Amino acid sequence: MTTNTLDSAPETTAVSLDGRSFQFAGSLRSAFQPGGFVTLHSEDGTRQLGQVEEVAFSIGGGDLQGSGRILGVVSDDGEKLDQRRGVPFGAARVRVADAAEVEALYDDPGAVLEIGSYLASADVAAHLLPHRFNRHTFWCGQSGSGKTYALGVVLEQLLLRTNLPMVIFDPNGDFVRLRESSPSAEDTDAARALAERNIRILRPSSPDPDSLRVRFVSLPLHAKAAVMHLDPLDDREEYSELIHIEETMGALDGKDVVSALIARGTSSAAALAARVENLGLLDWNVWARGFEAVTDIVDTRPDATVLDLGGFDNPDESLVVAMAVLDDLWARREQRRPLLIVIDEAHNLGSPEHQSPLHVAVRERLIQIAAEGRKFGLWLLLSTQRPSRIHPSIMSQCDNLALMKMTSPIDLDELATIFGFVPPAMLARASRFAQGEALFAGGFTAAPMMVKMGGRLTLEGGVDVRVPMRPSS
Ligand SMILES: Nc1ncnc2c1ncn2[C@@H]1O[C@H](COP(=O)(O)OP(=O)(O)O)[C@@H](O)[C@H]1O
Ligand SMILES: [Mg+2]
Repeated sequence: MTTNTLDSAPETTAVSLDGRSFQFAGSLRSAFQPGGFVTLHSEDGTRQLGQVEEVAFSIGGGDLQGSGRILGVVSDDGEKLDQRRGVPFGAARVRVADAAEVEALYDDPGAVLEIGSYLASADVAAHLLPHRFNRHTFWCGQSGSGKTYALGVVLEQLLLRTNLPMVIFDPNGDFVRLRESSPSAEDTDAARALAERNIRILRPSSPDPDSLRVRFVSLPLHAKAAVMHLDPLDDREEYSELIHIEETMGALDGKDVVSALIARGTSSAAALAARVENLGLLDWNVWARGFEAVTDIVDTRPDATVLDLGGFDNPDESLVVAMAVLDDLWARREQRRPLLIVIDEAHNLGSPEHQSPLHVAVRERLIQIAAEGRKFGLWLLLSTQRPSRIHPSIMSQCDNLALMKMTSPIDLDELATIFGFVPPAMLARASRFAQGEALFAGGFTAAPMMVKMGGRLTLEGGVDVRVPMRPSS
């Protein structure tokens, strides 16, 4: 299937010596661009699907040259693609691939995530492979590039097409309306199917059972110490008092912890009591105080659990939630129950610069999950504005990349170093992306692709604040 306009396009020819890559040369009028899909018709009748990676041209000479990758051999009926092999050829005609040929990248179009359309061809739907979210994913783009919106599109699709549970660390309340259909999607099958999923929205301000709480006694010792800014060596005596806190007086969840500590009559207990008071820990809303803790809820594996981290009075409270959840997941890792751990604005939790004990504890756990969580079914999806804002030990473990608009050449260079599998010409395009345009590369795509994201099925939570305008007269 080729269209007439293309039949009349000037001929471009390609050669492939290894059946993996190809070089081509032809007229400037051929509409080839990095990331674009082409078919390569060799003289023996073989038709292969390829992807253009680099394009160069000289304006004076009117000549276009470039190179690309062979993705597989197209079946005779044009509907299937054998991706295990490519065939070398001495000469082949190159054309822009049509929609059916691109769709052949996916064995079962019903089993993939539909996230938008290709930038190069708006009529061809773009897909991600859901089963490859069993890797860590890095999602990057400058502020306002559309990360959170696009992330929502992908999460909706995962909810629709998979049984992969997810927990969403949501610092700006962007996902708190994930249960509500957007006006454009209302009354569609997709919206109805989404409404049937078990989506829990936990917020600090919500009444029980939807409040976002942590049980202090359930925190591991190192986490309790981090809450109290206690160092095991510098604060030896208070630290050992902390070890006994459970046996002696319950926990911070109780109101009488300070008086109970003072009643112990030791100087270290008095010091610990003063510490609790000075830090204002008893005023924190995050403590469970007998109500259900977030770790218990996540452990029941709702289809999605949204953690609204932005609604606490004290920023440390959101770190306590993150630490409690990540520590608990790690402690139960041997259960090997799959979970997608989505962290928007992930630099809040994984920045290499943070130094407070809570920050360090959370980051260390993230580094560990990044390094070893995969085989236990703990898969990260981290979104941030700049690669340097995430600890390199975390980022280097990511196999999937989503990149939205990013103009900084330093940041693009850093991404190129870590994600060597992305064609450089496609990475460079990210500096010219409009809002909602994204590059996907890595295991979760059949081939690197540039996409215009589709619309959301559910409502966004924290929409941009608008400049107040005066009524026009
Ligand atoms: N693909 C899109 N279609 C429509 N609106 C979008 C799209 N992407 C982003 N927006 C809007 O642009 C604003 C910023 O997007 P957002 O996803 O919050 O950016 P980021 O998370 O990268 O800072 C939001 O108000 C959002 O509604
Ligand atoms: Mg955002």
